[in-house]
Amino acid sequence: MAQFNSLFQQSINKPEEFWAEAASGIDWIKKWDKVLDSTRPPFYRWFAGATMNTCYNAVDRHVEAGRGEQIAIIYDSPVTDTVRKISYKELQDDVARFAGGLKSQGVSKGDTVIIYMPMIPEAAVAMLACARIGAVHSVVFGGFAASELAIRIDHARPKILVSASGAVEGKKTIAYKPLVDKALEQCEHQVESCIIFQRDVVKADMQEGRDHDWLELVKTCEPAECVEVAATDPLYILYTSGTTGMPKGVMRDNGGHAVALYWSMKNIYDIDAGDVFWSASDVGWVVGHSYIIYGPLLKGATTIIYEGKPIGTPDAGAFWRVISEHKVKTLFTAPTAFRAIKKMDPEGKLIGQYDMSSFEALYLAGERLDPDTYHWAADLLHVPIIDHWWQTETGWAIVANCRGIEDMEVKAGSPSLPVPGYDVRVVSNDGDELPAGEEGNIVIRLPLPPGTLATLWRNEDRFLSSYMTTFPGYYETSDGGFIDKDGYVFVMGRMDDVINIAGHRLSTGAMEEVLATHPDVAECAVIGTHDQLKGQLPLGLFVLKDGVNRDSEEIKAELVKMVREEIGAIACLRETSGVNRLPKTRSGKILRGTMRAIANGKEYNMPSTIDDPTSLDEITDALQDMGYPKK
Ligand code: COA
Ligand code: AMP
Repeated sequence: MAQFNSLFQQSINKPEEFWAEAASGIDWIKKWDKVLDSTRPPFYRWFAGATMNTCYNAVDRHVEAGRGEQIAIIYDSPVTDTVRKISYKELQDDVARFAGGLKSQGVSKGDTVIIYMPMIPEAAVAMLACARIGAVHSVVFGGFAASELAIRIDHARPKILVSASGAVEGKKTIAYKPLVDKALEQCEHQVESCIIFQRDVVKADMQEGRDHDWLELVKTCEPAECVEVAATDPLYILYTSGTTGMPKGVMRDNGGHAVALYWSMKNIYDIDAGDVFWSASDVGWVVGHSYIIYGPLLKGATTIIYEGKPIGTPDAGAFWRVISEHKVKTLFTAPTAFRAIKKMDPEGKLIGQYDMSSFEALYLAGERLDPDTYHWAADLLHVPIIDHWWQTETGWAIVANCRGIEDMEVKAGSPSLPVPGYDVRVVSNDGDELPAGEEGNIVIRLPLPPGTLATLWRNEDRFLSSYMTTFPGYYETSDGGFIDKDGYVFVMGRMDDVINIAGHRLSTGAMEEVLATHPDVAECAVIGTHDQLKGQLPLGLFVLKDGVNRDSEEIKAELVKMVREEIGAIACLRETSGVNRLPKTRSGKILRGTMRAIANGKEYNMPSTIDDPTSLDEITDALQDMGYPKK
């Protein structure tokens, strides 16, 4: 561990030297004036004064280096029975041409573009084309409903919207265009045009004058060159769930992002140019941004865009088929995917049908890796199983086993040690650092390393209040956990009302806002409950208005439908229950944390501020009647 420790110490004690050295992995147009600009804490800026282009670094430079024929993207879509390989040269041509298409629609440096796409290579092309001309993309996960898309359009104020006619989600075909049209009707901001990629699986109706067919458009456009942008210029905005219905627009800049992701590919994932790296996520999530698109391409590796599921497309051997067919070296996915495979094929019999000789490591993140799933995967796959912890805000791992530097001992239940650049501490609610083994708030001492969020888009105040105010001098992760005597970090779960459903981050607050609009509901609470497959599932508890005498099953069905329509099926709110009252503090705050503890069978202390302690007995009985805590 000597090598790792020395690098880690350097990154904390001499961050500017450390990151200046890491920055040699990126091609700059102009070098920085200052590695770290600390003039306006906590708004730290990396590589101030430097200029570069992210798309050039992810695509063009590999072609110029003579690796144009190497495969950049493998599109593997069991749901459409397609495998398509795209070389770096082909990717460069596609991206340059689509960038020309964006320009033809008036998009230029600094404009925002919303991308609402399924898992097809055109999603990557659209993102890279924005980066090429200095436009700021904001990808919205395809599983979000029209209203969620509308919220993001209104906040990001895009000049144009890029989408596809639809997606194939497991066995279902989902038309995207009606959702796009509905969102555009709902929102106040008006886009100037839409570019729609028509897929064979479903055709989109186009609105004359506003909508353009992707393929038709690029036929007539000149390819566009990479433009020079400042390292500190925004590359993208990615909205993520906060504790309210209004998501947070995490803003990532160009230079620090490229440096950090390039560095992480070798040092965390042990990936070199030419290796096949597969992140089985979705471009709509941060894992998709960092490790389907930018990380592997900046490194010159081959990435896989997989339009399928771990099970059912066609079976629980899907991941092993992709690994063997494309000679995948490293797979990155969420533990849920492995729990789903384990449920269908508990003995892992399907693995035996495939040649897994290329496979060297499995990385898991997005939610806590439970020791059962860890041991199951380790026993069957005979490769290192690496849990690593990060967040949309950080964009890359905070805590991980940095195998590319040095293999470290694994402790089941812990993602291992803080990654170079991250000074991780655990503090009490008063901000005092806690001794080894004691659970508290996980925080990171400022400055955060390059590649982490620069701010929240058009909302500096929320950036400060969400992350920088509770523990001055530290970034508040909102995760709780402890650090053991060997420095291993154990992440136990969120301290706020954000929940993780199948590795997807969702806000119970947003679901509550939807339930509260039901005409018969007086008040409600949504809490995260433990689920064997998906990690967590939301449970809606509601109190009816006085005098409402309707069939409660009917009301429950309406509530489930509302959340599906307003947020999306991905919210997975399937269970709701009417209760007589919700436990509250004397000042009227609903005791969500206490209810969460009861529903999950955890110990809790009677809150000293509780208004009426018998309300907790009532809710305990109600939850027990619903079968909580579940086994
Ligand atoms: N577009 C539209 N709808 C979508 C969607 C998309 N891109 N992604 C999911 N949905 C829908 C699903 O069809 C499903 O709808 P339903 O309620 O009508 O069946 C709902 O949202 C929930 O989806 P999901 O959580 O994916 O559940 P599932 O039961 O279809 O599949 C797993 C279960 C475990 C196979 C799946 O959750 C999975 O693959 N998890 C891995 C997670 C992952 O990769 N996370 C990324 C972070 S690293
Ligand atoms: P997201 O921003 O969607 O990536 O979700 C981030 C949240 O997921 C974190 O704040 C954690 O609560 C959780 N998370 C991600 N990775 C891990 C992990 N390896 N172990 C435990 N929790 C994790």
